[in-house]
Amino acid sequence: MIDTEENEDSSNERINDLSYSIEIKNLKKYFKGKRGMEDVKAVDGISFHVEKGEVFGLLGTNGAGKTTTINILTGILLPTEGTAFVDGYNVESEMKKVKEMISVCPQEPALYKFLSGLGNIKFFGNMYLMPKEKIIERGEELLKLLGLYDARNRLTRGYSGGMKRQLSLIISLINEPDILFLDEPTVGLDPRNRRKVWDFLKSQKDQKNTIILTTHYIEEAEALCDRVAIMDYGQIIAMGPPKELINEHQVKNLEEVFMKITGRSILEGI
Ligand SMILES: Nc1ncnc2c1ncn2[C@@H]1O[C@H](COP(=O)(O)OP(=O)(O)OP(=O)(O)O)[C@@H](O)[C@H]1O
Ligand SMILES: [Mg+2]
Repeated sequence: MIDTEENEDSSNERINDLSYSIEIKNLKKYFKGKRGMEDVKAVDGISFHVEKGEVFGLLGTNGAGKTTTINILTGILLPTEGTAFVDGYNVESEMKKVKEMISVCPQEPALYKFLSGLGNIKFFGNMYLMPKEKIIERGEELLKLLGLYDARNRLTRGYSGGMKRQLSLIISLINEPDILFLDEPTVGLDPRNRRKVWDFLKSQKDQKNTIILTTHYIEEAEALCDRVAIMDYGQIIAMGPPKELINEHQVKNLEEVFMKITGRSILEGI
């Protein structure tokens, strides 16, 4: 028998929901295995959506597929299968539109080492075609807020790892993006500077920006994220508000949620 209800549904089905900031459907990214090795299933059929104004965390061990997911959403990689939309735009066919509203703080800071901190900020602000005064005003405000103001005129080749990361975060925030992707934004920051980043991100939340954040810091996810997706071997093994996941699994924190589901520690290999 033909399932008429399903047929009717599919004929009226919308491809994507425009009220979502991000929508991902059965997304896969496989990397070809070298010399007869099996393909690496970096992302293996994940689906989720992120509401506008939400802070959404991707958690997981090294190699779980977090950066690959972000790279697909920001146009660095094409998916092997499945679809993804950013603010309703398809990441494969409408990336130009996607790029107008996003900003990325990549896992590896990409800076010009022969420019100062402020010089890098000006360079990237210019790329976004921001007015010069606006770049300086916003740049100096962020440098002060995130604790890098005193080093603003030093060449970044002399910056420490943590300072490079702080600057990379500032650059990703310079154009006040609607949707912000932060790939491990606080790795290598000391507790005081990490706290500054958290406070700043919380203040962004009040402004209704959408933030997609990957992190290994369980406290960071619990403090900042409205919802998290826990990834393992390219798949989502749990998703929801941190408190709900913790209650549902009757444990004390998200690390224990991961442990309960997989029998392993999320901090292994870090
Ligand atoms: N360009 C590539 N070619 C081949 N394999 C890749 C490539 N990029 C990623 N991978 C593999 O895909 C898997 C997922 O990597 P990914 O960088 O997405 O993990 P991650 O969750 O961000 O990890 P981490 O916490 O260490 O940053 C890993 O097994 C990785 O080795
Ligand atoms: Mg990563």
